[in-house]
Amino acid sequence: MDSHEQLVQDLVTKYGEGRENLLPILQGVIEQERYLSEDLMLKIAKQMSIPAAEVYGTASFYTFLDTEARGKYVIRVCKTITCAMKGKNQVIQAIENFLKIKLGETTIDKKFTILQTNCLGWCHKAPAMLINDEVYTELTPELVVKILNEYKNRK
Ligand code: FES
Repeated sequence: MDSHEQLVQDLVTKYGEGRENLLPILQGVIEQERYLSEDLMLKIAKQMSIPAAEVYGTASFYTFLDTEARGKYVIRVCKTITCAMKGKNQVIQAIENFLKIKLGETTIDKKFTILQTNCLGWCHKAPAMLINDEVYTELTPELVVKILNEYKNRK
């Protein structure tokens, strides 16, 4: 068990596994680690047996928890094996071309950030991605551009 796993496990033991305890657990992690990395969020999801989307959603809703500079909409494309085999690279390419930024970057208007994530549990409908806590599946380059256009036009 690495130090992150130990930290998350201690907090889950302290506050309990129920999802109502997600916020104090996220805060506990911030106190110790100063920021919430992708890795920590996935470990929290695993230990609490809740979907990663929920942890990401809560963290991005409480912006004070997220100390890294991020856009209003954080796109997380699954990079795990099934999604990788089903064309996640083409999907990422389409997103990068559309937003004119690379993975890990945020658009100048601070609207979008593109990241990768580990398996989201939607392998049967790969490739999958999240935009904040919204799940999108069976992605193609065309579909992803359509989805992003909708977000772009949101107020
Ligand atoms: Fe991508 Fe599971 S491998 S959702």
